[in-house]
Amino acid sequence: METVLSGIRPTGNLHLGNYYGAVRSFVKMQYEYNCFFFIADWHSLTTHPTPENIQNSARTILAEYLACGLDPEKATIYVQSDVPETIELYLYLNMNTYIGELGRVTTFKEKARQQPDNVNAGLFTYPTLMAADILQHRATKVPVGKDQEQNMEMARKCARRFNNIYKTELFPEPQNFYFAKEAVKVPGLDGSGKMGKSDGNCIYLCDEPKVIRKKVMKAVTDLGPQTPNSPKPEVIQNLFNFMKIVSAEDTYNYFDEKWNDCTLRYGDMKKQLAEDVVAVIQPIQERINEFATNQQLLDNIARMGAEKARESAAATLREVRKIIGFRVY
Ligand code: TRP
Repeated sequence: METVLSGIRPTGNLHLGNYYGAVRSFVKMQYEYNCFFFIADWHSLTTHPTPENIQNSARTILAEYLACGLDPEKATIYVQSDVPETIELYLYLNMNTYIGELGRVTTFKEKARQQPDNVNAGLFTYPTLMAADILQHRATKVPVGKDQEQNMEMARKCARRFNNIYKTELFPEPQNFYFAKEAVKVPGLDGSGKMGKSDGNCIYLCDEPKVIRKKVMKAVTDLGPQTPNSPKPEVIQNLFNFMKIVSAEDTYNYFDEKWNDCTLRYGDMKKQLAEDVVAVIQPIQERINEFATNQQLLDNIARMGAEKARESAAATLREVRKIIGFRVY
């Protein structure tokens, strides 16, 4: 079975866009592949050297992913900093990675511009840490967005170069794994085509029903249908697209007909939409809250994940040490 690995940036709470875009695909993948999912808390030090309450934010994210259906019995779910083996591989990979190529990585250049007083070596070697994350489990598929393509190219380079230098075939080259065909794009509530946390247009899985209702009622609309069967303007199409994702087909068709015969009242549509969003989120939210009140359970799950991840990483590292010529204990 192929190994899939995905790193999760520990920034902020999950929103509905994350849920339909990636998290549901992860849940499905865990039944089809040998999956590793981890929270990249070390990576966050490259930009935030003194994170406030880093343990709590890792716990929160873990709780949200588990509440969405990630299963610690199926997938290996862990926190990056719980697996010290990664650092040793990171060191070896750094020895064969050149400053020229690291300096050409656009995310590095961007971050260096954004934080000119903190252009640290960790930031510079972000791609080799990411390569170590991937190669330590000899993962072959990595679900990533477009913004990670260059980092993935570096990970493949690390694998190839190690194999070449030491005349081995230890590392498979990890491939970008696009699940765009399954991913569903959730529109933003501000009329934009995409829900994203930077846009302040999103509904979080931890939003309480009354917050959800308020947000949905505020969604951007227009004057309403003017002539029968007219095409929908973009903001309205977005609202319908949203409904298609969370509501029943009949509900969607009902409001679509209302649009076509010019009797649609957006207030009614949004009320229905809000209830359907609440119905999707509420059970997830209940599970998030269960974890929030049971930190022990969450810690046990993280510990179990770390054990499995360390075992997998240690097996690779033993090979690496043998290949380079270091003592193997
Ligand atoms: N760089 C990734 C991001 O910003 C997070 C990440 C770290 C990652 N290590 C990884 C993703 C390994 C995939 C595999 O989203």
